[in-house]
Amino acid sequence: MRRKLAAGNWKMNGSRASLTEVDRIVAAAVGLGIDVLLCPPATHLVWVRERIGREGIRTGGQDCHPEHHGAHTGDISAAHLADVGATHVILGHSERRLDHGETDALVAAKVRAAWAADLTAVICVGETLAERRAGDTLEVIARQVEGSVPAGAAGHNTVIAYEPVWAIGTGLTPSEAEIAEVHAALRAQLHRRFPAEAEAIRLLYGGSVKPGNAAAIFAVPQVDGALVGGASLRADDFVPILAALDAAP
Ligand code: 13P
Repeated sequence: MRRKLAAGNWKMNGSRASLTEVDRIVAAAVGLGIDVLLCPPATHLVWVRERIGREGIRTGGQDCHPEHHGAHTGDISAAHLADVGATHVILGHSERRLDHGETDALVAAKVRAAWAADLTAVICVGETLAERRAGDTLEVIARQVEGSVPAGAAGHNTVIAYEPVWAIGTGLTPSEAEIAEVHAALRAQLHRRFPAEAEAIRLLYGGSVKPGNAAAIFAVPQVDGALVGGASLRADDFVPILAALDAAP
């Protein structure tokens, strides 16, 4: 059985004041039968880790460099993330693919670096609105998974997040049938490429997950949790999402 996972991606948001939100999220998450992951800006990882203390909530970075160390001013390696207690790293987010021109090959190299540092990679894929309207969604996602998920993917080192670009930060979401179609295709592709591990790799949905739509999204087959942006910054929004995931079938 795949354990459900709720991941919060703060993106370039949050501040020291957000640590009080972390306290409330931790208090609510303890005792739930799900995994919870918080991915604040790298500058705040240590503080968030300290606030979580010994509780079983995980922390993650939002990107890493494909190399472990060296002359790469401004970059952060997977080893640095691991050094401050992170266990996960989000890779290939559409904002990085768009803002920084990240290709599938670069994302795959970052995933291998994450694995080498014993981090679990949360690999993001998703179509643009133009690609969906053109009927290319499944083809685009299959190509991204093929290129971004390297050989060696397994339940313990890989999570895949389906994040339609047009649903991120817009309040729009695909229909439950559309999410189900993509997640079924992802699972089938994992079975073809990684037959022994396919059932263990968790598939998250991301894009405008809110307290009001979480339960419906979590009821979709093959949705093992969510990658939450805006609604992960405030306990008032994130805690009900955690509760919905805990209650999901
Ligand atoms: P929102 O939840 O703000 O739409 O962001 C989703 C996302 O990109 C998470 O990685």
